[in-house]
Amino acid sequence: TTEKPWGGRFSEPTDAFVERFTASVDFDQRLYYHDIQGSIAHATMLAKVGVLTEQERDTILQGLKEVQDDIEQGRFEWSVTLEDVHMNIEARLTDKIGITGKKLHTGRSRNDQVATDIRLYLRDEIDIIASEITRLQQGMLALAEREADTIMPGFTHLQTAQPVTFGHHIMAWFEMLSRDYERLMDCRKRVNVMPLGAAALAGTTYPIDRNLTAELLGFDRPSNNSLDSVSDRDFAIEFCAFASLVMSHLSRSSEELILWASAQFNFIDLPDRFCTGSSIMPQKKNPDVPELVRGKSGRVTGHLISLLMLMKSQPLAYNKDNQEDKEPLFDVIDTLKGCLKAYGDMVPAIQVKAASMEEAARRGFSTATDLADYLVVKGVPFRDAHEVVGKAVAYGVESGKDLSEMSLAELANFSDVITDDVFDVLTLEGSVSARDHIGGTAPAQVRKAVAAAKEMLAAR
Ligand code: ARG
Repeated sequence: TTEKPWGGRFSEPTDAFVERFTASVDFDQRLYYHDIQGSIAHATMLAKVGVLTEQERDTILQGLKEVQDDIEQGRFEWSVTLEDVHMNIEARLTDKIGITGKKLHTGRSRNDQVATDIRLYLRDEIDIIASEITRLQQGMLALAEREADTIMPGFTHLQTAQPVTFGHHIMAWFEMLSRDYERLMDCRKRVNVMPLGAAALAGTTYPIDRNLTAELLGFDRPSNNSLDSVSDRDFAIEFCAFASLVMSHLSRSSEELILWASAQFNFIDLPDRFCTGSSIMPQKKNPDVPELVRGKSGRVTGHLISLLMLMKSQPLAYNKDNQEDKEPLFDVIDTLKGCLKAYGDMVPAIQVKAASMEEAARRGFSTATDLADYLVVKGVPFRDAHEVVGKAVAYGVESGKDLSEMSLAELANFSDVITDDVFDVLTLEGSVSARDHIGGTAPAQVRKAVAAAKEMLAAR
């Protein structure tokens, strides 16, 4: 009395609402390609161990190829009655090739099948995302190299701190993404383990060869425990944690770009093609791309939390709860790819307003630490030097003068070791070039960091 593949023990059809409520085909159809790849490998293995004949295998492979064509040509009608991508494809296969199609599911369950599909799908997406990160990093290197000598105020507490080079600032962004890339590669190792063969939860009675299936699908190895294989989604959680960190990093950069593009900072110009206007205020050019990226970071982290909550109370082994893993994971992938694409295009096109940045660095006493260091070189203990320069800054605030704008006589009021050579250290160029060690902001160090980074990317 029911057309479900599992209908044997049921005596009434599924409630119409329940059918919709429990179905996943609307969103899991995006797994179709990897579902078919998994089935091809499974059927190939079954024939190898003698569970299917070679003729049955060939019939199945031919049928799967036709199903794939149907899907890709838009000829496939997805049915909610058939619940999910797996049963839709299997039913269409059986329509095409008859009774042999019903043998494909031998020694397999949708539980190990879906876990395999997601891993195959995610592995491909990881590889795409990895190259998008690399492309963005290349754009950062181009920008950092171009602006290795450009001076801007560096901030702590968003208050002027010390002069830095713009190239150095961009290389800080680069470092964040380098760690993200490593995290992604590490995550990939744990994604690339094959659940297929776990069947529903306990394994199967057929003489399957899991090493063979794993090899056919490009997995590093079959998983160790059948119960664990069908139940855990920690690999997806880990991926979403990686994605949340990338998004946090892009969100921080976005915040900076938004500030810098404002009339008040006036440090950069974003090309018009990455901005939009206002329907009422004719002068507006809004930094929508960084704003949206900042906004979308919340959405990605939200999905991470969804998956953690989804997993946390599930007893072994598979539970239908896990069907809820897909929409958050897919949305994280789509959102992250979109943000990386937008950033990859935008970052190398950032126009730097060097004169305006430098002017800003002249305000806010950004070379005060340099003056203190100068006094230390002349024999003043650092704490005393700090106090002396603090007094000079207080005088500067009162008189409206930067340290470099004070006369020698004025400066000498604060310490008698100050002589004419003080003006060398009060220049912005002197300040940044003096920080010439690994990780320092000197233009020479930025160039070295860029060169090393280029080699690193070339070796990926
Ligand atoms: N659509 C299901 C999912 O996404 C496939 C596995 C269903 N297994 C089951 N026994 N109901 O998780």
